[in-house]
Amino acid sequence: MKVNVLFSPVNADELYFANKTTVVIDVLRASSTIINALSNGAKEVIPVATVEFAVKVSGGMFGGQTLLGGERNTKKIEGFAIGNSPTEYSKEVVKDKFIVFFSTNGSKAIVKAKFSENLLVCSFNNLSAVAKHLIKLKNDVEILCAGTNNHFSLEDSVCAGKLIEEMNKKKKHIEVSDSSAAAFTLYERFGNDILEMLKNTEHGKKLLENGFDKDLEFCSKLNINSVLPYFDGIKLKSLDLKKPKMRS
Ligand code: MLT
Repeated sequence: MKVNVLFSPVNADELYFANKTTVVIDVLRASSTIINALSNGAKEVIPVATVEFAVKVSGGMFGGQTLLGGERNTKKIEGFAIGNSPTEYSKEVVKDKFIVFFSTNGSKAIVKAKFSENLLVCSFNNLSAVAKHLIKLKNDVEILCAGTNNHFSLEDSVCAGKLIEEMNKKKKHIEVSDSSAAAFTLYERFGNDILEMLKNTEHGKKLLENGFDKDLEFCSKLNINSVLPYFDGIKLKSLDLKKPKMRS
Protein backbone atom coordinates (compact mmCIF):
# COMPACT_ATOMS: atom_id res chain seq x y z
CA MET A 1 0.00 0.00 0.00
CA LYS A 2 1.47 3.32 -1.06
CA VAL A 3 0.35 6.63 0.39
CA ASN A 4 0.93 9.92 -1.39
CA VAL A 5 0.10 13.43 -0.16
CA LEU A 6 -0.92 16.36 -2.36
CA PHE A 7 -0.36 19.52 -0.33
CA SER A 8 -2.85 21.50 -2.40
CA PRO A 9 -5.32 20.71 -5.18
CA VAL A 10 -3.67 23.15 -7.58
CA ASN A 11 -1.23 20.82 -9.29
CA ALA A 12 -3.58 17.90 -9.81
CA ASP A 13 -5.88 17.55 -12.77
CA GLU A 14 -9.40 16.17 -12.20
CA LEU A 15 -8.48 13.05 -14.19
CA TYR A 16 -5.50 12.39 -11.92
CA PHE A 17 -7.99 11.02 -9.39
CA ALA A 18 -9.75 8.60 -11.77
CA ASN A 19 -9.98 5.15 -10.18
CA LYS A 20 -8.02 6.25 -7.11
CA THR A 21 -8.79 6.07 -3.42
CA THR A 22 -8.68 9.66 -2.20
CA VAL A 23 -8.98 11.24 1.22
CA VAL A 24 -9.80 14.96 1.28
CA ILE A 25 -8.64 16.90 4.34
CA ASP A 26 -9.77 20.43 5.22
CA VAL A 27 -9.33 20.56 9.00
CA LEU A 28 -10.38 24.25 9.24
CA ARG A 29 -13.22 23.77 8.77
CA ALA A 30 -15.01 22.06 5.88
CA SER A 31 -14.05 18.45 6.72
CA SER A 32 -14.92 18.88 10.39
CA THR A 33 -18.26 20.49 9.46
CA ILE A 34 -19.22 17.77 6.96
CA ILE A 35 -18.36 15.01 9.46
CA ASN A 36 -20.44 16.69 12.18
CA ALA A 37 -23.39 17.30 9.83
CA LEU A 38 -23.57 13.64 8.78
CA SER A 39 -23.02 12.48 12.33
CA ASN A 40 -25.99 14.60 13.42
CA GLY A 41 -28.32 13.00 10.92
CA ALA A 42 -28.05 15.08 7.74
CA LYS A 43 -29.17 12.79 4.91
CA GLU A 44 -26.63 14.10 2.41
CA VAL A 45 -24.11 16.88 1.96
CA ILE A 46 -23.82 18.03 -1.64
CA PRO A 47 -20.48 19.83 -2.08
CA VAL A 48 -20.40 22.43 -4.84
CA ALA A 49 -17.60 24.47 -6.39
CA THR A 50 -19.44 27.81 -6.73
CA VAL A 51 -21.99 29.79 -4.72
CA GLU A 52 -24.06 30.32 -7.87
CA PHE A 53 -24.34 26.57 -8.39
CA ALA A 54 -25.29 26.11 -4.72
CA VAL A 55 -28.19 28.51 -5.12
CA LYS A 56 -29.22 26.96 -8.44
CA VAL A 57 -29.33 23.35 -7.23
CA SER A 58 -30.87 24.08 -3.85
CA GLY A 59 -33.93 25.72 -5.43
CA GLY A 60 -35.54 22.67 -6.97
CA MET A 61 -34.38 19.97 -4.58
CA PHE A 62 -36.09 17.81 -2.00
CA GLY A 63 -39.18 19.98 -1.31
CA GLY A 64 -38.19 22.13 1.66
CA GLN A 65 -35.70 19.67 3.11
CA THR A 66 -32.68 21.47 1.65
CA LEU A 67 -30.37 23.78 3.58
CA LEU A 68 -27.72 25.98 2.05
CA GLY A 69 -24.54 25.95 4.12
CA GLY A 70 -21.03 27.28 3.87
CA GLU A 71 -18.82 30.33 3.92
CA ARG A 72 -17.01 32.93 1.93
CA ASN A 73 -14.01 34.54 3.61
CA THR A 74 -14.96 32.59 6.79
CA LYS A 75 -18.42 34.25 7.02
CA LYS A 76 -21.89 32.85 6.32
CA ILE A 77 -22.97 33.73 2.79
CA GLU A 78 -25.92 36.08 2.36
CA GLY A 79 -29.07 34.05 1.80
CA PHE A 80 -27.55 30.85 3.21
CA ALA A 81 -29.17 29.21 6.24
CA ILE A 82 -25.92 28.24 7.98
CA GLY A 83 -22.23 29.11 7.85
CA ASN A 84 -19.21 26.82 8.23
CA SER A 85 -18.96 26.34 12.00
CA PRO A 86 -19.16 22.60 12.74
CA THR A 87 -21.34 23.28 15.80
CA GLU A 88 -23.98 25.07 13.72
CA TYR A 89 -24.73 21.67 12.18
CA SER A 90 -26.55 20.38 15.27
CA LYS A 91 -29.17 17.60 15.29
CA GLU A 92 -31.96 20.15 15.62
CA VAL A 93 -30.79 21.96 12.50
CA VAL A 94 -29.61 19.21 10.15
CA LYS A 95 -31.49 16.00 10.96
CA ASP A 96 -33.03 14.54 7.76
CA LYS A 97 -31.87 17.53 5.75
CA PHE A 98 -30.06 17.66 2.41
CA ILE A 99 -27.30 20.24 2.70
CA VAL A 100 -25.91 22.01 -0.34
CA PHE A 101 -22.47 23.07 0.82
CA PHE A 102 -19.96 25.60 -0.50
CA SER A 103 -16.66 26.50 1.12
CA THR A 104 -13.65 28.40 -0.20
CA ASN A 105 -11.33 25.40 -0.35
CA GLY A 106 -12.89 22.22 1.06
CA SER A 107 -15.95 21.72 -1.14
CA LYS A 108 -13.90 22.64 -4.22
CA ALA A 109 -11.24 20.04 -3.37
CA ILE A 110 -13.92 17.34 -3.06
CA VAL A 111 -15.46 18.31 -6.41
CA LYS A 112 -12.01 18.32 -8.02
CA ALA A 113 -11.43 14.72 -6.89
CA LYS A 114 -14.89 13.58 -8.03
CA PHE A 115 -13.59 10.86 -10.37
CA SER A 116 -12.00 8.94 -7.49
CA GLU A 117 -13.18 5.37 -7.13
CA ASN A 118 -13.40 5.92 -3.38
CA LEU A 119 -13.45 9.37 -1.84
CA LEU A 120 -13.56 9.92 1.91
CA VAL A 121 -13.49 13.11 3.96
CA CYS A 122 -11.18 13.26 6.97
CA SER A 123 -10.27 15.63 9.79
CA PHE A 124 -8.77 15.06 13.24
CA ASN A 125 -12.34 14.31 14.39
CA ASN A 126 -12.71 10.99 12.50
CA LEU A 127 -9.08 10.16 11.70
CA SER A 128 -8.86 6.74 13.31
CA ALA A 129 -12.05 5.51 11.58
CA VAL A 130 -10.71 6.69 8.21
CA ALA A 131 -7.35 4.95 8.80
CA LYS A 132 -9.12 1.71 9.71
CA HIS A 133 -11.26 1.83 6.57
CA LEU A 134 -8.28 2.57 4.31
CA ILE A 135 -6.38 -0.40 5.70
CA LYS A 136 -9.41 -2.59 4.95
CA LEU A 137 -9.63 -1.31 1.37
CA LYS A 138 -5.93 -2.19 0.80
CA ASN A 139 -5.67 0.32 -2.08
CA ASP A 140 -2.98 2.92 -2.65
CA VAL A 141 -4.13 6.21 -1.17
CA GLU A 142 -3.96 9.83 -2.30
CA ILE A 143 -4.37 12.29 0.57
CA LEU A 144 -5.57 15.58 -0.88
CA CYS A 145 -5.03 18.57 1.41
CA ALA A 146 -7.53 21.31 0.54
CA GLY A 147 -4.99 23.96 1.56
CA THR A 148 -5.85 27.65 1.49
CA ASN A 149 -6.50 29.39 -1.80
CA ASN A 150 -4.40 26.82 -3.65
CA HIS A 151 -1.52 27.25 -1.19
CA PHE A 152 -0.06 24.92 1.42
CA SER A 153 -1.73 24.84 4.83
CA LEU A 154 0.02 23.46 7.89
CA GLU A 155 -3.10 22.10 9.61
CA ASP A 156 -4.13 19.88 6.68
CA SER A 157 -0.55 18.63 6.23
CA VAL A 158 -0.15 17.78 9.93
CA CYS A 159 -3.49 15.93 9.80
CA ALA A 160 -2.24 14.02 6.72
CA GLY A 161 0.88 13.06 8.70
CA LYS A 162 -1.22 11.89 11.63
CA LEU A 163 -3.38 9.81 9.27
CA ILE A 164 -0.24 8.14 7.91
CA GLU A 165 0.96 7.44 11.46
CA GLU A 166 -2.41 5.90 12.32
CA MET A 167 -2.37 3.71 9.20
CA ASN A 168 1.16 2.63 10.00
CA LYS A 169 0.08 1.62 13.51
CA LYS A 170 -2.66 -0.57 12.04
CA LYS A 171 -0.54 -2.06 9.26
CA LYS A 172 3.21 -2.18 9.28
CA HIS A 173 5.17 -1.06 6.22
CA ILE A 174 3.04 1.48 4.50
CA GLU A 175 5.05 2.66 1.52
CA VAL A 176 5.41 6.44 1.65
CA SER A 177 6.14 8.94 -1.10
CA ASP A 178 8.46 11.90 -0.44
CA SER A 179 5.44 14.13 0.26
CA SER A 180 4.05 11.56 2.74
CA ALA A 181 7.40 11.47 4.54
CA ALA A 182 7.32 15.29 4.69
CA ALA A 183 3.75 15.31 6.07
CA PHE A 184 4.73 12.75 8.69
CA THR A 185 7.71 14.87 9.73
CA LEU A 186 5.42 17.89 10.09
CA TYR A 187 3.12 15.83 12.28
CA GLU A 188 6.06 14.80 14.48
CA ARG A 189 7.09 18.46 14.81
CA PHE A 190 3.67 20.09 15.30
CA GLY A 191 1.23 17.30 16.25
CA ASN A 192 1.78 17.15 20.01
CA ASP A 193 -0.70 19.89 20.82
CA ILE A 194 -3.20 20.07 17.98
CA LEU A 195 -5.15 23.06 19.35
CA GLU A 196 -1.97 25.08 19.82
CA MET A 197 -0.85 24.18 16.30
CA LEU A 198 -4.24 25.29 14.87
CA LYS A 199 -4.09 28.60 16.75
CA ASN A 200 -0.74 29.39 15.14
CA THR A 201 -1.63 28.64 11.53
CA GLU A 202 -2.51 31.40 9.09
CA HIS A 203 -6.09 30.22 8.72
CA GLY A 204 -6.41 29.53 12.45
CA LYS A 205 -5.34 33.11 13.21
CA LYS A 206 -7.89 34.46 10.73
CA LEU A 207 -10.65 32.40 12.35
CA LEU A 208 -9.60 33.64 15.80
CA GLU A 209 -9.70 37.25 14.56
CA ASN A 210 -13.26 36.62 13.39
CA GLY A 211 -14.37 35.16 16.73
CA PHE A 212 -14.38 31.46 15.81
CA ASP A 213 -12.34 30.31 18.85
CA LYS A 214 -14.81 27.52 19.60
CA ASP A 215 -14.44 26.14 16.08
CA LEU A 216 -10.70 25.70 16.56
CA GLU A 217 -11.36 23.79 19.77
CA PHE A 218 -13.90 21.58 18.01
CA CYS A 219 -11.67 20.93 14.99
CA SER A 220 -8.72 19.99 17.24
CA LYS A 221 -10.55 17.09 18.88
CA LEU A 222 -9.06 13.75 17.95
CA ASN A 223 -11.30 10.79 17.11
CA ILE A 224 -14.56 12.07 18.60
CA ASN A 225 -16.46 10.64 15.64
CA SER A 226 -16.42 7.49 13.54
CA VAL A 227 -18.52 8.77 10.64
CA LEU A 228 -17.01 8.13 7.19
CA PRO A 229 -18.28 10.73 4.71
CA TYR A 230 -18.20 8.96 1.33
CA PHE A 231 -18.59 10.82 -1.98
CA ASP A 232 -20.40 9.07 -4.82
CA GLY A 233 -19.63 11.71 -7.46
CA ILE A 234 -22.57 13.95 -6.53
CA LYS A 235 -23.18 13.75 -2.81
CA LEU A 236 -21.54 12.80 0.47
CA LYS A 237 -23.27 10.28 2.65
CA SER A 238 -22.23 8.49 5.77
CA LEU A 239 -20.73 5.20 4.57
CA ASP A 240 -22.72 2.23 5.79
CA LEU A 241 -20.12 -0.51 6.05
CA LYS A 242 -22.80 -3.20 5.94
CA LYS A 243 -24.07 -2.12 2.52
CA PRO A 244 -22.11 -2.25 -0.76
CA LYS A 245 -21.08 1.26 -1.82
CA MET A 246 -22.89 2.73 -4.83
CA ARG A 247 -21.51 5.41 -7.09
CA SER A 248 -24.00 7.54 -9.03
C1 MLT B 1 -12.60 26.24 3.39
O1 MLT B 1 -13.16 25.34 2.76
O2 MLT B 1 -11.87 27.05 2.85
C2 MLT B 1 -12.74 26.40 4.88
O3 MLT B 1 -13.60 25.51 5.39
C3 MLT B 1 -12.83 27.84 5.23
C4 MLT B 1 -13.42 28.11 6.59
O4 MLT B 1 -12.74 28.01 7.61
O5 MLT B 1 -14.59 28.45 6.67
